[in-house]
Amino acid sequence: MNETAEERSAGADNLPDNLPDDVPDDVPDDVPDDLPDDLMDKVVRLCRHRGFIFPSAEIYGGFRSTYDYGPLGVNMLRNVKEAWWRSMVQLRDDVVGLDAAILGPPAVWEASGHLATFTDPLVDCRNCHERWRADKIDGVCPNCGSSDLTEAREFHLMFKTHAGPVEDEGHVAYLRPETAQGMFTNFANVLGTTRKKPPFGIAQVGKSFRNEITPQNFVFRTREFEQMEMEYFVSPAESQQWFEYWVEQRMAWYLDLGIPPERLRLRHHDPDELSHYSRGTADVEFLFPWGWDELEGIANRGDYDLTAHATASGESLDYFDPQTNERYTPHVIEPAAGATRTMMAFLLAAYSEDEIGGEARTVLRLHWRLAPYQVAVLPLSKKDTLEPTARRVLGLLQPHFMCDHDVTQSIGRRYRRQDEIGTPWCVTIDFDSLEDDAVTVRDRDSTEQVRVPIDGLLAELRRRTGSE
Ligand code: GAP
Repeated sequence: MNETAEERSAGADNLPDNLPDDVPDDVPDDVPDDLPDDLMDKVVRLCRHRGFIFPSAEIYGGFRSTYDYGPLGVNMLRNVKEAWWRSMVQLRDDVVGLDAAILGPPAVWEASGHLATFTDPLVDCRNCHERWRADKIDGVCPNCGSSDLTEAREFHLMFKTHAGPVEDEGHVAYLRPETAQGMFTNFANVLGTTRKKPPFGIAQVGKSFRNEITPQNFVFRTREFEQMEMEYFVSPAESQQWFEYWVEQRMAWYLDLGIPPERLRLRHHDPDELSHYSRGTADVEFLFPWGWDELEGIANRGDYDLTAHATASGESLDYFDPQTNERYTPHVIEPAAGATRTMMAFLLAAYSEDEIGGEARTVLRLHWRLAPYQVAVLPLSKKDTLEPTARRVLGLLQPHFMCDHDVTQSIGRRYRRQDEIGTPWCVTIDFDSLEDDAVTVRDRDSTEQVRVPIDGLLAELRRRTGSE
């Protein structure tokens, strides 16, 4: 299906000028040469323009650092979480899932140590009055360059609210700043209702909230975000070996889903960097446009959490092993990733610009599991004659793939649009389809087109996903 030059260049039209104000201006030196200089701007614009991510409450001027996931973004975010769940829960028999409450009583956060220690050091610039996290700025205000900063004071990151109509201390509740604690407080419930025993894990995906001092870099650091965390309970003697196992597993997950190896690295924390609960942490880092930064932390939390909750609640959170007659408090290995932050990394890694037949195009080379749509069904013309076949093809594919159906504009423009939103395969129905009962399948990355009989289409697409 041919397209015109004008159609090929139409991908990036009508881009909005009002980008969020937390997109960084400076691009550091360690960004590889083959990344576009303005990669961040381009991805943020694409997200806004194509309906991945919108600034929240935009019609009221926006709400800083808060974002809404549009029709494409919600599909992709679900796919990121689903890919994580598949690898961490579905394909294993030693991990079960959980969906715990977001609102929690102070007792949980007192025991976990968050009420006492979940703070960041805050400084004010006396010159321009901006506020910063002291540990991120090397003593100089990034806004005006002044080193006239106030003394650092500890700022608490948890969102506090009241449960019920009375706003007094007896009704205080907190929004969880991590999903992890729900897994610890339900440890005995899960142990008592499943047949799991160490080593086993509890996984959870959901929203967390932190009153970040400097939310920044689009959805990289926001006050409301989604996490994908798993607590893996092991005997104390085996904790180091399981820590190493999970570091390896988690690195492989990002690579399998298309993050290029040269943009992914592992960084072990120095002892003075460790969180209050951790005996050892390794961060999975991605090379963002502003440099290397964290995607996920894998921590050896020891018995910190179960012991703390057992002491505070008075409930035993030990495990008794009937085989060895041993009673112990399990140690915990925790791979803790951010779903929204990881989605952004996948978008940045997938963004590329290339030339097809001498014409520039923008293409998101997303793994098919992550793309908002896996297939676009495109009747060549709007004429009603093709619609019944298009509907038949949609009916065949929709139970298996997320499908887009687009009848507007010329076929070239529609291919370009699908390239730009990362759809791996376009299925085109033309007038020959009415004769030969076949369609054209176009591959996003190679742009190669092949004719496929409709009754073999599902098998062909499954073959391309590697799951015949
Ligand atoms: N339970 C351990 C824990 O929460 P963390 O390193 O604070 O560890 C885990 O958070 C992951 O959650 C981070 O690696 C990051 O991907 C994501 N995350 C944390 N704070 C975030 C924020 N403000 N905005 C977006 N993602 C965030």
